[in-house]
Amino acid sequence: MSNERPLDASRERDDASPADLARRRFLQSAAAAAALGSVPHLHAQNAPSQNAPSPADAVAPPPVPTPAQPVKLDINGREYALHIEPRVTLLDALRDYAGLTGTKKGCDRGQCGACTVLVDGRRINSCLTLAVMHEGRRITTVEGLASAAAPSAVQRAFIERDALQCGFCTPGQVCSATACLTEFAAGAASAVTADVRRPPSQLSDAEIRERMSGNLCRCGAYANIVAAVRDAHAASA
Ligand code: FES
Ligand code: FES
Repeated sequence: MSNERPLDASRERDDASPADLARRRFLQSAAAAAALGSVPHLHAQNAPSQNAPSPADAVAPPPVPTPAQPVKLDINGREYALHIEPRVTLLDALRDYAGLTGTKKGCDRGQCGACTVLVDGRRINSCLTLAVMHEGRRITTVEGLASAAAPSAVQRAFIERDALQCGFCTPGQVCSATACLTEFAAGAASAVTADVRRPPSQLSDAEIRERMSGNLCRCGAYANIVAAVRDAHAASA
């Protein structure tokens, strides 16, 4: 009797235990994958594709436009009856609906101060607030600070000190400086005031720089802007 094992593969399969069969199938598929160089591909099939849309990329439905509504704004002492959507910023309402383009749009996100206007005497960034929120408030833009024939003390000082180059930031600087002098006169302290219980009697250059720090000038005319605010303060003292 021969001790040779049969070479019949089907017989061999029949004789194999389930564990043997599982191991054999695994080795066969691994060998095939290696031969095709497709192991990384098999992984990639399971990994999320770089081009596949993520849930965050899902296309959101377009926002439903809110109907425009009538809004009355008091700008520079005159009433403007506008018809605007509630999402319109005060800056866009001034420039695009009221036609007052003196107020500038720099960053449109509250970082540069180019859009500074006064609301009830206080300076705000008009790009960060909605126009509909200001019904019944007193809005002052650079056009309302003075007439061309009679510039305000701050405007005069900016001209005399040549406190601008391109002039883009200037309307915001002038509105901010106007409110800055009013705040100082009212005893408001700043971040550099040594004793907030006793605001300084004189507006130092350090105080001016701090109080005007929300207004950026890409031309770098800061030295002359500080000098202009100092002069305007001296003129109003
Ligand atoms: S445009 Fe409003 S802060 Fe720059
Ligand atoms: S003068 Fe040009 S940005 Fe200020």
